Formats: sequence, C-alpha cells, structure tokens
Amino acid sequence: MTGSASPHTGRYPAGAAAFPHRDLLAIAGLASHEIAFLLDEAEQWVELNRQSAKHAERLAGLTIINAFFENSTRTLLSFEIAGKRLGADVVNMHAAQSSVKKGETLIDTALTLNAMRADAIVIRHASSGAVQLIAGKVDCPVLNAGDGQHEHPTQGLLDALTIRHAKGALNGVKVTICGDILHSRVARSNIHCLAALGAVVRVCAPPALMPDGIEEMGVTAFYDFDAALAGADVVMMLRLQQERMQGNFIPSAREYRHFYGLTLERLAKAAPDALVMHPGPMNRGVEIDSQVADLAGRSAITRQVEMGVAIRMACLDVLTRRARGIAGWT
Ligand code: NCD
Repeated sequence: MTGSASPHTGRYPAGAAAFPHRDLLAIAGLASHEIAFLLDEAEQWVELNRQSAKHAERLAGLTIINAFFENSTRTLLSFEIAGKRLGADVVNMHAAQSSVKKGETLIDTALTLNAMRADAIVIRHASSGAVQLIAGKVDCPVLNAGDGQHEHPTQGLLDALTIRHAKGALNGVKVTICGDILHSRVARSNIHCLAALGAVVRVCAPPALMPDGIEEMGVTAFYDFDAALAGADVVMMLRLQQERMQGNFIPSAREYRHFYGLTLERLAKAAPDALVMHPGPMNRGVEIDSQVADLAGRSAITRQVEMGVAIRMACLDVLTRRARGIAGWT
C-alpha cells in the first residue's frame, strides 16, 4: 500500500507520462490509457477502504481546499474523506451559489485560494467553464467536482470503475444512460469516459431533454425507453435537473415516470444481469422506483459511492506527485 508510486503494468507510459496533466478538468481530451491509469490507481484504495484502518500518509502535510460554490452531499463528503484518508489537511469552503458570480469575484476568490498555498483545490461551480477559469489563476492542481452542465470527471471515472468491478471490463459493454441528458454533466463525463474505454453507449431522454447533435459524441440517441433498454448491460438513470431548467421541459413528474421511469417491469427489457446505476441524488418514484434502486444484486448505487472515494484518492495522489517530488513525476 505504501510502496511504489504506481503499479506499472505496461498499459500506459511509465512515470508522469502516464498522466501528464496538472489538473483534472474534464474527461474529454484524456487519452484512454490515462483514464485506465486512474482506474488502476484507484484499485489499491478500494482495498484500503475495505480495511478497518483506512489511513495512508501519502499526502501528509499537504493542504487540500474543497471550494464548493454549489450544493453537494456525496461529492463534497467523498473528496473530504479521500483527502483525509491520504493524510492531508482538508478544508471545506462553502459559498452560497447566489453570492458568487462569474468574472471578477470568481477570479478574486481564485487568487485568495492561491495565496493560501493549497496543494490541490477541488471546485464545484454552477457555471460551465468556471473551474477552468480558476485553474488558470492558481499554481496548484485543480480538480473539477462538477461545473454547470459541462463535466464531472470524477463521477465519470467512478462510474467506469463500478462497471469494471461488476462486468470485468468496459470494452463492448452496452450502457444505456436515461434521463435529463441535456442538463447533465454526469452524462457528458460518462459518455466521454465510456466511449474512450470501448463501451457502447445509448442515451435516452424526451426530445426536450436531449442535446442537439448528441450523436457526434459517438452515442446512439433513443426517445423510446423500452427500445433503449433492450439488451443493455448497464442502465444508468439520471435525475431531472430542475434547478437548471429555465422553463417547462416536461409536462409533469407523473408523465415523465410513465415514459422514462425505471420500474421493475422495464428493467426486465435489459440484459438479465443488467446493473442499475444512479449518481444520486435520486428522486424515487420519478426516474427510478424504489424496488429497482434497492434491488439486491443488481443495484450498484451504493457501490458507486464506495468507488467514488477510491477514485478521488487516486486523483488527489496522482495530481500531487509532481509537488511531492515522487521519482519519475518531477
Ligand atoms: C450529480 C451532480 O451534482 O452533478 N450528483 C453527484 O455529483 N453525485 C448529479 C445530480 O445533481 O443530479
């Protein structure tokens, strides 16, 4: 656990060449071997997190700031636990969404965080691109914990790791993502991540919640949920992101459930061992029924949360290697 910096398997270049980026802002633009490297790195942390003593001192003495300009339960907690398990000092900054605007204020915040000499900054922001803006103003690695409708890269990685654990590999696995694709940064990161790893991705949404030109991302678009489910190995459900909707995108939650809710009956259209996933928070009885969300042996929803801590530990470790002077990473 405390040994060499990384298990070099030959699947990716040695040392820093395995992940040559300072920041983790998006999955788009990462090479598939870079994604595979982060997933492989996370495996050791999955193991450690299953022990009763969960501490590794790899990041001892380092300061990590979680700057969340948008509400979060599991992502914030997950990054906090990840940093603490690696021995770092973790500080959380909550900023009410309404009090922070793009532009000068955000840049001033970035300069303030930078002056505090954090060793890594984890940022969630309601505006797409805000995290990249801050990354351009600070001297340390920045991890995107979700920026508007753009990306949520650690969610894409943790979902890929969850699927890999259940199915053994990603290549050729049929994944159906259903819900509010238009407003979902989770969908975007997942599409990039799954496509890079060779999965076959279908997306399903009512027409109003399907982004134009989604096929250009290498997915097949469906408007009929039953057709999208046929033979799927993984069914990933997404919440209706009401807070991002300006106007009426769906007639009612009841009608939405009728056409796009995952019920036990609908799940039967997917492969017999299809895995059920949801990034949370769930709206039970809308996009997913409780009997499905809690279906033993099939629902991976709590497993996703478990994998999330391991993935965030891997990302924090890898991105701070240069600053820690790890051999091969300086
Ligand atoms: C998602 C998010 O915030 O993007 N949740 C999460 O991080 N687990 C999805 C959502 O808000 O619906």
